[in-house]
Amino acid sequence: MGDRLKGKRAFITAAGQGMGRAAAIAFSREGASVWATDLDADALRSLEGTPGVTTRVLDVTGSEAVGRVAREAGAIDVLFNCAGIVHHGSILECSEQDWDRSFDVNIKSMYRVTRAFLPGMLERGKGSIINMASVASSVRGLPNRLAYGTTKAAVIGFTKAIAADCVARGVRCNAVCPGTVDTPSLQGRINAFADPVQARKDFVARQPMGRLATVDDVTPLLVYLASDESAFATGGAFPVDGGMTI
Ligand SMILES: NC(=O)c1ccc[n+]([C@@H]2O[C@H](COP(=O)([O-])OP(=O)(O)OC[C@H]3O[C@@H](n4cnc5c(N)ncnc54)[C@H](O)[C@@H]3O)[C@@H](O)[C@H]2O)c1
Repeated sequence: MGDRLKGKRAFITAAGQGMGRAAAIAFSREGASVWATDLDADALRSLEGTPGVTTRVLDVTGSEAVGRVAREAGAIDVLFNCAGIVHHGSILECSEQDWDRSFDVNIKSMYRVTRAFLPGMLERGKGSIINMASVASSVRGLPNRLAYGTTKAAVIGFTKAIAADCVARGVRCNAVCPGTVDTPSLQGRINAFADPVQARKDFVARQPMGRLATVDDVTPLLVYLASDESAFATGGAFPVDGGMTI
């Protein structure tokens, strides 16, 4: 237990599993009270009983639901926009529906949730917004990530725009760009290949350190960006990618 986020109130989307869940636990260990939200009620159950954590089902594609849950949560200091989905395929495999869904979940959701909380942050003159991007975006092009990479590049643009608008008003906004992280959805993507053993090897092979990241490789960066230790950091796109973009 630490006190790097003592007294802070945080709100996290997609906190049922993977990096969002790990952030909820890490933030609460550092003294924050956390609203952990996710589409999946079952996944959220694994956080029940975590000190300082309140769970709520929230689909970030619903404007009305976002507004309702944000009003219930009230004033917050830290917003971690983590929700995102991976569409696998090149432009030729990406239907308009896939494209629209990817934009809705991966970037329009951040517009919705940020709009719900930013006025309160500006009123109080403080706040840290952390947006989940990826190195698979403007930083590095990867095969079969058309919709994903485009939306994650948009996350970086969105982050810089918010940072620029709020730079003198006490609210910071940064993006994190992980490499390949071993999370439940990555395992799902691996299992979808005809040869999952080879697929895992291929994911490892694109990581120059010869291993995938764990969620614990990413949470220290999230805690840093949530805390006042990062007071001079805004508008950044922070890689935590095991050297993938050297
Ligand atoms: N795993 C990786 O290799 C990797 C790398 C870089 C970035 N990311 C990004 O990190 C984020 C989290 O991914 P992960 O792999 O840690 O976790 P994950 O993909 O295993 O879990 C994501 C969670 O998001 C929730 N979710 C999906 N759609 C939602 C919606 N509409 N509203 C609310 N919640 C929703 C799911 O229920 C699930 O609990 C995503 O934005 C992803 O793009 C992942």
